[in-house]
Amino acid sequence: MTHTLDTIHAVRAELDTVFTWDYEQSRAGLVKLYEKAKTSQWNVSTDLDWSIDVDPEKIGQELGGGSTLRFQALAEAEGSPVRHFGAAEWARVSVELQNSLLSQFMHGEQGALLCTARIVETVPWIDAKYYAATQVMDEARHVEVFARYLDEKLGTQYGINENLKGILDDILRDPRWDIAYLGMQIMVEGLALAAFGLMQQITTEPLLKKLLRYVMSDEARHVAFGVLSLQEYYRGLSAPELRERQEFAFEVARRLQRRFAHTEMWERFGVDPDAIYRTMDEVQPPAQRMFQQLLFSKIVPNCKKLGLLDAGDGWLRQRFTEIGVIEFEDWVDTGEEYGSLDEVARDREAAGS
Ligand SMILES: [Fe+2]
Ligand SMILES: [Fe+2]
Repeated sequence: MTHTLDTIHAVRAELDTVFTWDYEQSRAGLVKLYEKAKTSQWNVSTDLDWSIDVDPEKIGQELGGGSTLRFQALAEAEGSPVRHFGAAEWARVSVELQNSLLSQFMHGEQGALLCTARIVETVPWIDAKYYAATQVMDEARHVEVFARYLDEKLGTQYGINENLKGILDDILRDPRWDIAYLGMQIMVEGLALAAFGLMQQITTEPLLKKLLRYVMSDEARHVAFGVLSLQEYYRGLSAPELRERQEFAFEVARRLQRRFAHTEMWERFGVDPDAIYRTMDEVQPPAQRMFQQLLFSKIVPNCKKLGLLDAGDGWLRQRFTEIGVIEFEDWVDTGEEYGSLDEVARDREAAGS
């Protein structure tokens, strides 16, 4: 691929790159996570079987089951832009949705790669720098695995969704080290973990299933890293400082939801994405509501664990209550969950290595 100007996107930031002369590993939770990260590395080239033949239509149908339903429900509505869609169009939507979802995962992974490289530079604790360095490697592997799957098995990809791009740019522009953590580790990755989980449960395509299991093993550690680090840092912040974080977290969550509207895909079908959103708001299909809520199943308990839910006057609790996702608050938080999600270690034990 030749690199023309529009394959490069630069984000300008002014921030402090921080050395620490305190090399003592004093944060037990992070030390344990770092040790786990070192032994649970895996290799895209050798741990996955790339000889598996993939039928995009079959996966499209399986995954489309849920995702396509969200949009198919719009076909009945008055003035709906997809009213004229027949079986052939919906079959194509299923395949394209699949490409669109996996493409956004790939772009999001690159965002994670850049954000964690940032954290290595800006976080003041040696334990966190060590751990973040392992995550940089994890994220490179994730970009690699999605890019390869799209290229070799699906044969097409989408450019980055504008909402996702806006979020990543905002996170990378912000000089405060904890904002990179909160935006990426808690919000973007928390939502990705939920979305990967849904996809992994539905698909029967063995290569996709295994790669998602492995990516999720890593992601669970990443979210745990965010939870463990920010829990400590946020205990020392004032109420106004915490309020800023609450508002930031909620704003990111709302924008992330929009990423799943698949603007770029509808444009490819010649359908006006705004007309899709409008109809979606009118119809409010149950499948859409359920999907939107499930995306918060990791974010809400993790925000609670950070103390962000109830900080100050409980501003974030009120917002999550209004959008109907507060019920997730007592679901397992990822600070505890990552050990049980280590599928890489499980496979190696089973193989006796
Ligand atoms: Fe990742
Ligand atoms: Fe990650």
